[in-house]
Amino acid sequence: MDAVQVMKQEVGRAAAAMVESNTIVGLGTGSTTAYAIQFIGDRLAAGEIENIVGIPTSFQAEVLSKQYGIPLTSLDAVDHIDLAIDGADEVDPNKNLIKGGGAAHTREKVVDALANKFVVVVDSGKMVDVLGSTFLLPVEVIPMAIAPVMRQLEALGGKPELRMGVKKAGPVVTDEGNLVVDLKFEAIKDPAALEIAINNIPGVLENGLFVGVADTILVGEIIDGEPKVRTIN
Ligand code: A5P
Repeated sequence: MDAVQVMKQEVGRAAAAMVESNTIVGLGTGSTTAYAIQFIGDRLAAGEIENIVGIPTSFQAEVLSKQYGIPLTSLDAVDHIDLAIDGADEVDPNKNLIKGGGAAHTREKVVDALANKFVVVVDSGKMVDVLGSTFLLPVEVIPMAIAPVMRQLEALGGKPELRMGVKKAGPVVTDEGNLVVDLKFEAIKDPAALEIAINNIPGVLENGLFVGVADTILVGEIIDGEPKVRTIN
């Protein structure tokens, strides 16, 4: 397993260890959270924890949770979420995030923002000084509005690109049936203002800036050849 996978696995394990019996858990999307889901399933199967119910943030999270034996419910059936675990594409020093590499950021923001505690699981390569340095900012857009929204995103200073499918002709279609525009910014100096400005464009459903949502970041690192997990509270 390469170093990045080892870091992802270790933070996934550390996040799964934070899950307590009799709780409602938000289950994020992506390759790092996939490890957390796997380890939560292992802990349930081993009898270490019991009476967990998960709220999945995507079709992927739903499939994985079923595979690992985690009972699921929906937001209609619960009045709170105790803990949400989710990955990120970038994390800045203020614990603000860019998410949406897997096009699931809309549902992720609903679930992660509702949680009493939101724990982010990342490898050390995701830590940046300024958001937008390494990753494009995803924006979910309803299909009929794609042309005007792309023009308005450009007017905000971003370079918009419609996300295309891999091993599928045509654009990526989200779990909600919408399109994703990836926006290149040189640097996002005011994430809070940009998050609001983008979401104010008619036709935009949600963007991947998560400002002031994360409580704890678990960062996977390799130090002297050994995997370690650093906690940022
Ligand atoms: C899904 O839309 C994303 O927000 C993911 O949580 C994010 O892309 C992190 O994914 P990885 O853990 O696969 O890097």
